[in-house]
Amino acid sequence: MNTILNNRLKNFLLITLASALLWGCGSSDNAVELTAKQEQQVAERIAPEGHVSMAGQVASMSSPVGAGAARSGADIYATNCIACHSSGVAGAPILGDVAAWSARLGKGIETVYTNAINGIGAMPARGTCMDCSDDEVKAAIDHILENSK
Ligand code: HEC
Repeated sequence: MNTILNNRLKNFLLITLASALLWGCGSSDNAVELTAKQEQQVAERIAPEGHVSMAGQVASMSSPVGAGAARSGADIYATNCIACHSSGVAGAPILGDVAAWSARLGKGIETVYTNAINGIGAMPARGTCMDCSDDEVKAAIDHILENSK
């Protein structure tokens, strides 16, 4: 009886110690890897979406967003927008359709940007590119508009 209790106590202490060590390592890693700029980017990305990014994930991400370098509008378009905007899925205005895009621009470019970032009609927010910054979505829109006039 006593031995069992002792073993349980030992296990409990070991687990507690291990967790404390792991936790300690994890937080010091974050402190080293997250720059002030990255923290600000995380805050910006969380704010409009309520989309939670764990600090640890962002710190270990090797994508250009984490590094603070924006991908080009053409890249974003080819990866995230082309599926709908090359063929007009669900009524999406097609790249190259001058009339459709000039009609959209009638409400002002800022509104068009905001609609794409927040989602509009059948278009999901950011065209489903959840790791795109606002500027990257805008660059993709600029790419579409450049090729639709
Ligand atoms: C799942 C399909 C889909 C994807 C993916 C998608 N879109 Fe769209 N998009 C739409 C549809 C549908 C509309 C028209 C919505 C409406 O007006 O009801 C639209 C409209 C837009 C508009 C016009 C907004 C306005 O105010 O009139 C812009 C700009 C736009 N998309 C940009 C993008 C960009 C940039 C991407 C990639 C990052 C993207 N879309 C990805 C379906 C998509």
